Formats: sequence, C-alpha cells, structure tokens
Amino acid sequence: MEPHPDRVLIFDTTLRDGEQSPGCSMTQPEKLRMARALAELGVDIIEAGFPCASRGDWEAVNAVAREVQGPIIAGLARCVRDDIELAAKALKDAERKRIHVFLATSAIHREFKLNMAREEIVRRAVEGVKIAREYCDDIEFSPEDASRTELDFLAEVVEAVIEAGASTVNIPDTVGYTVPDEFGELFRYLRRHVRGIDKIRLSVHCHDDLGMAVANSLTAVAAGARQIECTINGIGERAGNCSLEEVVMALATRQQFFKLTTGVQTNRLYPTSRLLASITGQSIPRNKAIVGENAFAHESGIHQHGMLKNASTYEIMRPESVGMARSALVLGKHSGRHAFRDRVKQLGFELDEQELNRVFEEFKALADKKKELFDGDIEALVLRAEGGAQGPWSLVSLDLESHSGTQCNAKVRLEHIDGRIVEHLASGDGPVDATYKAIEQATGIAVTVRKFEVHAVTIGEDAQGEAVVYAEQNERSYRGSSVSTNIIEASGKALLEIINRIEQLAQSHARSGVDRRPAAARGGL
Ligand code: KIV
Ligand code: ZN
Repeated sequence: MEPHPDRVLIFDTTLRDGEQSPGCSMTQPEKLRMARALAELGVDIIEAGFPCASRGDWEAVNAVAREVQGPIIAGLARCVRDDIELAAKALKDAERKRIHVFLATSAIHREFKLNMAREEIVRRAVEGVKIAREYCDDIEFSPEDASRTELDFLAEVVEAVIEAGASTVNIPDTVGYTVPDEFGELFRYLRRHVRGIDKIRLSVHCHDDLGMAVANSLTAVAAGARQIECTINGIGERAGNCSLEEVVMALATRQQFFKLTTGVQTNRLYPTSRLLASITGQSIPRNKAIVGENAFAHESGIHQHGMLKNASTYEIMRPESVGMARSALVLGKHSGRHAFRDRVKQLGFELDEQELNRVFEEFKALADKKKELFDGDIEALVLRAEGGAQGPWSLVSLDLESHSGTQCNAKVRLEHIDGRIVEHLASGDGPVDATYKAIEQATGIAVTVRKFEVHAVTIGEDAQGEAVVYAEQNERSYRGSSVSTNIIEASGKALLEIINRIEQLAQSHARSGVDRRPAAARGGL
C-alpha cells in the first residue's frame, strides 16, 4: 500500500555510503547488528551495501536481506548488467527488496570520468533501469552529481528513467555543493518539466561538504521530495551525509511548519547513534545536534534558572524524545538487579535474561572499583556485551613495572580457547608499548599499529577509559576497542580483539582451503 503523501520515507545508507568512509568500515556481524537496530528504529529502507564492490560487501547485503525483516532492503549497482545481477542475487531472499542503480549525469563527470556524450548517458540509464526491472519491481535511479547537472538534461534523464520503470528517482548533491534556495528550485523545476513525475517518489541525497546537507534535504522535502537518504551520526564520504537524527528531529520538532511525518521511533535515535559509535570507534562530538553529550546540557546560570521554571524556555525538544535518559548519577554497588534492569531499559536496550545476568555481574565488578556509575558506564557494558564474538585469546592478567626514565616491563598471561595458558614478559617505551610487545610475542601475531586513542567514557577521576586501536596486518586494516577503569588493560584488550579477529580469519580460511589474502599479497594484480 502506498504510504500517505504526507509521510516522508527514511532511506538509511549508513551501511553503504556511510560505511565506505574512512574509519567506518564494519564486519559482517557488525553490519547485521546495525541493520537490526535500524529496523527497530523504524527506517523505511536500509541500503545494505554495494554488492559488486567486494565479496564481503555482497555477503553482508545477502545476510541483511536474509535476516532483517521490516524495512525494504536495497543494494546499489552501476548501470551495468553484471553489477545489477550481483545486486539482485544478494537481495534474492529479502522480504521486500529494491535495486538502486546510478549513473553520473553532470558535464564534469560525463567528460572526465565516463567519457560519454549526453545521448549515451540517457541510453545507459534507461538500459540499467530496464535490466533491474527484470529482477525486481522496486527500482530507484540516481543521477549522480545531479546538483551540478544542466537542468534541461537532468529533466531529460529523469523523464527517460521514469518511462523505463523507475519507481523512485533520487536527486543527489554528490559533492555537497548546492545551497537550499538553489536546490529547492531544482526540485520545483523537475516537478514542472518532467512528464510522469507525479507517479514516482522523489528522493533527496545530500553530502555535507559545506555543512548544509540537512538544510538542503529539508528544502528538497518542502519542494516535494518524499524520501530522504541519510546516515546515523551523518557518517559518509568526506564531510559525511545528511544526518538521520538531525533531519528526523527537524521534521518532528517543526511538524507544524513541515506538516510531514516519518515512521522513525525517535526515542531509539540516541541508542542507535551510540551503537554505531561503539561499532566504528568514531566518537560523537560533544556538541553534535540531537545525540551529542552536550545537546541537552545547560551550563549558564541564566539558562539553568529558566529551565528550572519551565524547560521550554531553552529546550525545543525533550531529551527523552530522542532516547537520551536524563540522569547523570545512576547506580552504585548497592543497587539491585531490578534498578539495573530499569536503567538499561531506560537507556533503550533490550537484553534477554541471560544477557542481563551477565552484564549485571560485570556491573557489580565495576561498581566495586568505581564509587559512582554513570549512564555512559552502563552503555559501555551493554554495548560490549551485545558485541558478542570473543576469543580465542583472553587476557588473564597484566602486571606492569614502570619507573620514570627507564624502559617499562609488562608481563601478560593469556588463555587460549584450546586451554593453553601463555605467559610473556616484554619491555617497551612506556606501558602500552611494553604490553603490546608482550601480547604480540605471546600470541605470535604481530601487527602495525596505525592509530591509538584513549578517551574517558564518563566524568570523574575513576572514569572508565575506552581505548581504540587501528592496526594493519597483511594489507588488511583492523580496529579493536575495549573499556576499563585501567586504561593500559583497556589498551591491551583492544589489541587482543584485533589479534582474535586475525586468528579467526586465518582459521576460517584454513577451513575453506581458500587463499583469501588480498590479491597483492598473493602476488596478483
Ligand atoms: O552521493 C551520491 O551521488 C551517491 C549516489 C550513489 C546516490 O551516493
Ligand atoms: Zn552519496
């Protein structure tokens, strides 16, 4: 059934446009976890990936298509038969599917990237849509770099793909170049000049190079678009994409102005944003609209005074409406299981009994080390517990000896899932270096650390520290993270997560008998 005309569809491309940006790549289980959270959030369409990009991308789209129900699952393809067939195969088992085909239309792309004349572009776009229609009725077409395309030519392409069978036409501001007035006019122009445009859904897809992705998307919606393409936390190529939480809350908060609705459960926005941040290790700036730590904090005395009298003096949204529970200090070591369960729920997490018991045990252990536990502590515990995939190595103990001006010694004791206990002592320039050398020598797996970050999860001297490590081995990039009140332990566990991933990968390749090292490492390409 066609949704109400006043309903704007939310097309989430976190797993495709978002995931392809540096530092945001996700493993298949992480993509699945994110896709489930997006379905719970209530997005209408999940773009799960670009199946022809790599075997991993294809498998991830296929897994999301098989396992995630509710939203339409989309896969991206160029206007090329092989790409489209790969996308169609990956999406085969989806309850509801969409093939999204794209081709650049601007003069710059035509001349320098594609080396194609206008007629060739129209011919290929039409052919792409027709091929996709052989596999699926729900077809979206995007004229890449639309905002820098000559208006008359853009209208010609859009009309041709509608005639060929596209049911959604998406207008991307690929390089984040347009400004609201100009973009609104582009949508009005298309609506005036394209035959058949009322029969399809117009969509908008903005990048944030000039910081206007959300403003441009809202202008497009005011000018008739009824689908917004966006990503959680605004992740995406270069400066990112239109941020889902911002655009959705703008429509909700200014409902009387826009007179439009979405299907998003806004109280899932904050937990979903935190989940993505924990998966990618990309922290959210404190002042980020809607989901930043300061988004609902009031520091100035005048503001606090107004807030106490009436929250609407300085607050246009309630933190609860985005799922940010308002409570600074939460629980301590005397808190019971009941209170803990309530708090977890208020923070937007659903845990089954077994998971709850496990996290509650960890909470108790943490409460023994820290006097006060904040929401951030509980979130960190839950998000790690949901992460699943552990082993084969785990850290049993870590002893450090450090004196200023001399090398530091670290002794690690590790346990392997096969029962082995390995102990190793190493020296290094500081505790982290010594710990990393000891872990690498104990496991026999060496990596090149490219980036290392530590930040406090909450406030206070006894705050837990989150360590995030980016490393490479054999031309592959890995990311590991861990949280602890002891930041050296967190750093060691973050490295161990990477080492575990490398060992798991090696084992699965050994089982399948396939050499899946990157082509260059195999001597190819
Ligand atoms: O930015 C862009 O043009 C895209 C298209 C593939 C929709 O991501
Ligand atoms: Zn894009």
